[in-house]
Amino acid sequence: MTPRKILIDTDPGQDDAVAILLALAAPEELEVLAITVVAGNVPLEKTSRNARVICELAGRRDVPVHEGCAAPLERPLVTAEHVHGKSGLDGHDLPEPTMPVADLHAVEAIIHHIRREPRGSVTLCALGPLTNVASALLKAPEIAERLGGIVLMGGAYFEVGNVTPAAEFNIYVDPEAAKIVLKSGIEITMMPLDVTHKALITRDWLDGISTLDTPAIRAVCGWLDFYERFDMEKYGGKGGPLHDPCVIAWLLRPELFSGRHVNVEIETQSELTRGMTVADWWRVTDRAANATFIGDLDADGFFDLLTERLAAL
Ligand code: BDR
Ligand code: CA
Repeated sequence: MTPRKILIDTDPGQDDAVAILLALAAPEELEVLAITVVAGNVPLEKTSRNARVICELAGRRDVPVHEGCAAPLERPLVTAEHVHGKSGLDGHDLPEPTMPVADLHAVEAIIHHIRREPRGSVTLCALGPLTNVASALLKAPEIAERLGGIVLMGGAYFEVGNVTPAAEFNIYVDPEAAKIVLKSGIEITMMPLDVTHKALITRDWLDGISTLDTPAIRAVCGWLDFYERFDMEKYGGKGGPLHDPCVIAWLLRPELFSGRHVNVEIETQSELTRGMTVADWWRVTDRAANATFIGDLDADGFFDLLTERLAAL
């Protein structure tokens, strides 16, 4: 089987880090062409640093890391240090990266790879605000037809918001970018909070993987221990959600997930509901479906997949 070619656009973040490690741990199924970083959880210089730390941890200095947009298309940046810590990757200290930042701007890199690879062969995995992705679509609209699809973490319907009562963080930070992506006509699979809030880290799982004691697992355990505290306090002790790894897990084991192909619109105007993903889950409008909105997953299968792949790194 030839591996599926992917681009990972990300704002690491501990859950982004686990997603990246999961992708790098699956070389037979996934070829990571490049990692493009965007401002989100923390400012751009930190997401860039963190992406390179993660590549070096995985022994993959060969994966180019491109720096992209430092701020959303039309708004000031909102960050999430209250969740991820000052570095964005608090919880386990690793050496500062020595691999350089790749030459091209992330937006150019996205365009370059999609133009260069055969039509339909590249899947874009978006784990942060959609600023880089939307900028690439604005700059080179023809890439929409060449992309094999976008799988993104973002949005919420039944779970409503995690950053405001109405909005999920990635969409809230850059709703204008999300709107461009959702209107692009590209095949989109969305991992909203509805599903990621079912991918809850448990103490048993963390204790179980910690016995494997590899450098990657030690980092994952330290990061997740730190990261899950915030959500456990907020949601009441159930375990932190592993949002972004759902994107990569879907590529590896789509049968673990289920959802509906529906219309999803992005609210950009309202002060109260900015960034809300208005998903027509019950198909009460005749607006055309533009995304597969995932709602459920087999959590045991998901965590077994993570254990098996992370152990092999
Ligand atoms: C999303 O926001 C970030 O904090 C996480 O990395 C994830 O991508 C969840 O709302
Ligand atoms: Ca993220």
